[in-house]
Amino acid sequence: MTRRILITLAILITPLVLGLALTYEKLKVDFPSFMENQPSVGYREGPRLLPAEGAVPITGVESPPDGSLPENPVAATQDSIERGKVYFDIHCAVCHGEDAKGDGPVAAYFKPPASDVADLTDERIRKEEDGLIYLTITKGFQGMPSLAENLTPAERWDAINYLRTIQRSSN
Ligand code: HEC
Repeated sequence: MTRRILITLAILITPLVLGLALTYEKLKVDFPSFMENQPSVGYREGPRLLPAEGAVPITGVESPPDGSLPENPVAATQDSIERGKVYFDIHCAVCHGEDAKGDGPVAAYFKPPASDVADLTDERIRKEEDGLIYLTITKGFQGMPSLAENLTPAERWDAINYLRTIQRSSN
């Protein structure tokens, strides 16, 4: 009789003990559904794969690694110039002014020792290559902040194409 009771108790308690052991991970069974059981690289875990040699981001080359000036890949079409005017008026005119003379509303706040906002119709900037202006926009230049976050590479080239039309129409 007592044997029967013991066996019944054992049959009842065993699943309970097993369940507790599994719940508190005293007994760990790696179910295949655990997300951690897969080949993966966690945040900031090595090894990182480097991009393939010569790979170019889909947004285009930021600046050639050999230090040479990037070529303007955007033809100065009517469309590009019209887009460029929108970008220039939003992102450049605040400092450089709509006519690029360096007299935008923010220019007055540039006080020494900061350098003045450049007059972009100046002979020196007219002669500057598109690639150099592109790098100025991308990386900033002395008092001028980098605008890389504001304009995509294609938008920067559009703004430069538009700037050329301002330079041509001003004397
Ligand atoms: C926050 C104000 C500000 C904005 C916005 C700004 N610039 Fe400038 N920029 C400056 C200042 C200040 C200088 C002068 C930097 C110096 O000579 O120290 C300058 C200089 C330049 C130069 C001359 C660099 C050289 O070689 O001397 C170019 C070209 C130029 N900016 C183009 C642009 C274009 C294009 C945009 C818009 C995409 C733009 N800037 C937006 C403030 C600004």
